[in-house]
Amino acid sequence: MAIAFQSFWGISLSFLLHFIRSESNTHVYIVYLGGVHNHDPVLTSENHLQLLTSVFQSKEEAKQAMIYSYKHVLSGFAATLNEGQATILANTKGVISVFESKTLQLHTTRSWDFMGLNVDQHKGFPLQLAYGDDIIVGLFDSGVWPESASFREEPGMGPVPKHWKGKCVAGEEFNPKKVCNKKLIGAKYYLTGYERRFGKINRTRTPEYVSARDVLGHGTHTASTAVGSRAKDVSYSGLARGTARGGAPRARLAVYKVCWNSNFGGTCTEEDTLAAFDEALHDGVHVISASFGKGPPLRQFFASSSDIGSFHAMQLGVSVVFSAGNNGPDPSLVGNINPWSICVAASTVDRSFPTKILLEDGSFFLGEGLITNHISGNLSRARSYFFGGICRTSNWKNVSASGNILLCFSTDGPVSSYEAEFAAREAKAAAVIFVEPLTRPIAAVSIFPIIHIDIIQGMKLLLLPNSTKVQILPSKTAFKRSPAPMVADFSSRGPSSISPDFLKPDITAPGVNMLAAWPPNIPPSMFPDDERQVHWNFQSGTSMSCPHVSGIVALLKSAHPNWSPAAIRSALMTTAYTKDINGDDISVEATTKLSDPFDIGAGHINPVQAFDPGLVYDMTTRDYVLFLCNIGYSEEQIQAIVSYPSTTCPDRTEPNWNINYPSITVSSLTCTTTIKRTVHNVGHMKTAMYFASIVSPNGVEVVVWPRILMFTPFKEEMTYFVTLKPVKMSEGRFDFGWITWSDGFHQVRSPLVVQVNTTGIVGSNNMAY
Ligand SMILES: *[C@@H]1O[C@H](CO)[C@@H](O)[C@H](O)[C@H]1NC(C)=O
Ligand SMILES: *[C@@H]1O[C@H](CO)[C@@H](O)[C@H](O)[C@H]1NC(C)=O
Ligand SMILES: *[C@@H]1O[C@H](CO)[C@@H](O)[C@H](O)[C@H]1NC(C)=O
Ligand SMILES: *[C@@H]1O[C@H](CO)[C@@H](O)[C@H](O)[C@H]1NC(C)=O
Ligand SMILES: *[C@@H]1O[C@H](CO)[C@@H](O)[C@H](O)[C@H]1NC(C)=O
Repeated sequence: MAIAFQSFWGISLSFLLHFIRSESNTHVYIVYLGGVHNHDPVLTSENHLQLLTSVFQSKEEAKQAMIYSYKHVLSGFAATLNEGQATILANTKGVISVFESKTLQLHTTRSWDFMGLNVDQHKGFPLQLAYGDDIIVGLFDSGVWPESASFREEPGMGPVPKHWKGKCVAGEEFNPKKVCNKKLIGAKYYLTGYERRFGKINRTRTPEYVSARDVLGHGTHTASTAVGSRAKDVSYSGLARGTARGGAPRARLAVYKVCWNSNFGGTCTEEDTLAAFDEALHDGVHVISASFGKGPPLRQFFASSSDIGSFHAMQLGVSVVFSAGNNGPDPSLVGNINPWSICVAASTVDRSFPTKILLEDGSFFLGEGLITNHISGNLSRARSYFFGGICRTSNWKNVSASGNILLCFSTDGPVSSYEAEFAAREAKAAAVIFVEPLTRPIAAVSIFPIIHIDIIQGMKLLLLPNSTKVQILPSKTAFKRSPAPMVADFSSRGPSSISPDFLKPDITAPGVNMLAAWPPNIPPSMFPDDERQVHWNFQSGTSMSCPHVSGIVALLKSAHPNWSPAAIRSALMTTAYTKDINGDDISVEATTKLSDPFDIGAGHINPVQAFDPGLVYDMTTRDYVLFLCNIGYSEEQIQAIVSYPSTTCPDRTEPNWNINYPSITVSSLTCTTTIKRTVHNVGHMKTAMYFASIVSPNGVEVVVWPRILMFTPFKEEMTYFVTLKPVKMSEGRFDFGWITWSDGFHQVRSPLVVQVNTTGIVGSNNMAY
C-alpha cells in the first residue's frame, strides 16, 4: 500500500499516538527520500536511523526494525513498521514516499544468428566480438553457476575496468578465488529482506545456497544469454547443437542475487532489490538486466523499487532492461512500464523441433517435441485408460497403458500438457501425443516423451483404427520455420495500465525455447523426480528475451560510450522490424492475427541496424522532470529525487505526449492536437537530409511538419511537429500508424498509437474537425 502525500490536518496527536500503539500488525515498508546529496554514507545512514527513531520509543527499537539503509546513490530505508508509523513517516518533511514492500516474481544458440549477429561467419564486421570488453552488465536474478562454460574468460580479455568498485563476496559453495575471473567480476547476494519475511533459509524445506550460487537455474540462464562467453558444440541431448554465446560475449558480468528459491519458484523482495540497485550503481555497472516484476495492479512510480532504482540508474547513464512479464495474451497486463527503462516482450525464433509420427504404411504426421530416442507402440485413445477420456491422474482407470502411445486432446477436460504428461507417465504409457487446438511451438523440456500436434492432424490420428502401430522418431532441429518471429502467447501486452501515453512494451526479442547455460545439479524439467544432469537447457519467457536486449545494449554502450540510456533505447526502437522472415507482418502465436505495437512495441530487435540508427530521440533527466511535474510531484520533491541543483516545473504543464519518447501515443484524442519531437543526428554524415513518410492510424488525419529536416555540422538537433486530427466518431479504440524519417539509407521509424475519443461531442453537429 502506498501512503504518500496524505494530509493529516485536523487529526490530533493523541489520536495518532493511540493509533500507533494499538496497531501491532507490521509489514516491511520502504521509506524513499530521493537521491543521495552528500558523499558520506555513514552520515546518511545515521540520518535514516534518526528519522526512524521518531516513530519508535527508542533508538534500540528503531535499530531492530531497520532492514536496510540505502545510502550510496538513492537515499531511503526499509523497515518493519505498522500502518500508523508508516503514515507518520509519509507525512514527514523530506519523505517522497512510503510504501509497503512487495515480493516480485521471476518471469520464467541459434537466436543470435536469427537476429543477424553472426560471429561464425566472417562476412561483415563481427560486432559481438569487437565490443563489450569495457562494459559491465549487472544481472539481478537468482545468482549464477559460476563453473559454466559461459562464464570462462574469453581469449585475450583485458584487465577489469579501472572504475569498478564491486567485488565477489564469499559464501556457501562460492569461493571468489576459485570462481571469479576477468569475466565474472562481481557477485553479491541480498538476503536480509527475504529472511526477515520468510524466516532463515532452511535447506530441509527448499535447497538454497547462502551465497551468489544459483539453485534455480534462472539466473545462470539469463546471465549466459546476456554476456555468456562462447562455448563450442553445445546442445540439449543433441538438439539445437551449435556454439552458445551471449549477446555481448566480451562484456563483464556482475551478479546481484536478489531472488531466492521458494515454493513459488523465484521470489525477490523489493527491499533486497532496492539494496542491489543502490550498490550496483555505486559499484559502476553500465547495464542492469532484471527479468522479474509484478503484474497489475501497478503502483505509482515512486512507490516501486524497480521504478525508483531504474530512475537513479538513468540519472547516472546506466541502462536498465526489464522483462514485460508472462501475463499475455490479455491486454493491459504489461509490467515494468516506467518511461526511463526498457521493457521487453518475447517472440519466437525460426528454429523448430519437428518430430515425425510414422505409420507402418510409410505415411506420417508431424508434431513438435524434444524426443531424443526412437519410440514405438500401439496408438491408444485416452478413453481406454482414463474416465471420460480426460488425461488427468485423477481420471486414471488404474489400467496399465504399458507399450502404448496415448492420444490426448487438450480440449477433453480441458487438460494442460503437464497434466497429460503426468497422467500418461502414471499409466506407464510409452509416450503421449498431445493435441492442441493450435500448434504452439512449446516443446518444453519434460521427463516424459510428449509430442505436440495440431487439431487437424490430431483428428486424423483419432480416426485411425484402434491399436494402429506407430513409431515416433527422434526430433530434428530445423531452421527457417515460418512464420517467425511470432509474438509469444504468454508475452504481456500493452497498453500500460498506469501511464497509457507511453507505449509499452518497447520492443520484442527471442524468448521461446532459448538454449542457455544450466546448473548441472538442477533437473532440466519441472518434474521433481527428474534426475538428469544437463549443462544447457531450454527455457521460455520474457525472462529470456530481456537479457537478449541487455546484451545488445552492452554492445551499443561499448560502441557509443556517449549515448544516454534514452539514445540507446531510441536506436533499438527506431531500427526494430515488424516483418517476419517471409516479409509479412509479424503474427501472433496461437492465433491467426497480426501483431500490433501493444504486442511488440516498436518491433523486433535488429542489433546490426541499431549500431547506426541515423537519428535518435534523446532524453535527459530534464525531460523526465517534466513528466514528474505532470504526475503531481512538487518542485521540492523533484529536487530531492534528481541530482542537479535547481528544478522547476513549467507554469503550463507540458502534456505527456510531448515527452521525447521514440514512440508516440495519444491515449485519448478528443480534438486536433499537435505533438512535438526532437531528433538528433548521430549518423556519420553531419550534413543530411531526412524526409518524413506517414502511415496514418485509421480515423486520424496526420500532418508532419516540416516534412524535410536538414542537418548540418552546426545543427545536429531538429524539432518537428505532428498534428493529429480525429476524423471519425469513436468512443475509444486504439489504431496504429507509423512515422518514418529517411535519408535514403537510414529508416528511423516510430509507432504512432492513437485512441480517438469523441465521446464528449457525440450528438453535436459542430464536431471539432
Ligand atoms: C527446517 O525445516 C524442517 C522441516 O520443515 C524443520 O523440521 C526444521 O526444524 C527446520 N530447521 C530450522 C533450523 O528451522
Ligand atoms: C490398481 O491396481 C493394482 C494392481 O492391479 C492394485 O494393486 C491397486 O490396489 C489398484 N489401485 C487402486 C487405487 O485401485
Ligand atoms: C499392439 O497391437 C497388436 C495387435 O494390433 C497386439 O498384438 C500387441 O500385443 C499390441 N501391443 C501392445 C503393447 O499392446
Ligand atoms: C481398443 O482395443 C482394445 C483391445 O483390442 C480394447 O480393449 C479397447 O476397448 C479398444 N478401444 C476402443 C476405444 O475401441
Ligand atoms: C473519452 O473522453 C471522455 C470525455 O472527455 C472521458 O471521460 C473518457 O474517460 C475518455 N475515454 C477514454 C477511453 O479515454
